[in-house]
Amino acid sequence: MVQFRLPKHSQIQKGKVFKATSNSSTLRTFHIYRWNPEDGQNPRMDEFTIDIKDSGPMVLDALLYIKNNIDSTLTFRRSCREGVCGSCAMNVDGTNSLACVKHIDEIKGTIKIFPLPHMEVMKDLVPDLRTAFKQFASIKPWVENSEKPKRERKQSIEDRAKLDGLWECVLCFSCTTGCPSYWWNSEKYLGPATLLQAYRFIADSRDTQTKQRLSELDDPFSLYRCHSIMNCTNTCPKGLNPAKAIGTIKKMMV
Ligand code: SF4
Ligand code: FES
Repeated sequence: MVQFRLPKHSQIQKGKVFKATSNSSTLRTFHIYRWNPEDGQNPRMDEFTIDIKDSGPMVLDALLYIKNNIDSTLTFRRSCREGVCGSCAMNVDGTNSLACVKHIDEIKGTIKIFPLPHMEVMKDLVPDLRTAFKQFASIKPWVENSEKPKRERKQSIEDRAKLDGLWECVLCFSCTTGCPSYWWNSEKYLGPATLLQAYRFIADSRDTQTKQRLSELDDPFSLYRCHSIMNCTNTCPKGLNPAKAIGTIKKMMV
């Protein structure tokens, strides 16, 4: 019988506990994944209880409060604080989310925070997205058109509308890292985020490379490892539908 055993250093240990200094009714407890590649220790879950009256209403507010007031070594990505840069994606309460637009009030009980799943971790809540961004670059995420126009290319209102539900993608990779097909084939399957972006340029009336773009996806892995599991659409914090974009590319292939 096959036996699976996790490597010794992947086992998560109990971490440090930081208690609140008051007994306010707005105290919330966060369990946060910590791992430092430089200390040679196993990952651990630290516990922080804070008064969210002092932090603000979003999960990112709480993380910033903890970093600024309790443990400055807590490491995570963030930039815009408005749900548009995609950098604060992490797994909150079991769902891949953008921490800056995830309300603490939506979550009952202890709030568990992990990095995006199934990616190598660089430190604490920071996943290694280098492969994912290399895959994104491979689909040539820009308009390709050999004609050099004298001024901007116009689109009809109908053609522009075809990009709705696509341009809003903030490349947070919540969908890709929530996809079991991507977990098992991340070297060769492009994953939902990159495929939604591929369709965004296929659907663009200003782009003349549709045939070429489709033929570059036509192999057993890049596109066809999608088995319509739908985790991508269920998890997208922007409410987009990568599964539909992938399905449309498959239909165009036929
Ligand atoms: S489709 Fe949604 S989940 Fe996927 S990268 Fe774009 S915004 Fe993030
Ligand atoms: S900080 Fe930009 S999306 Fe959250």
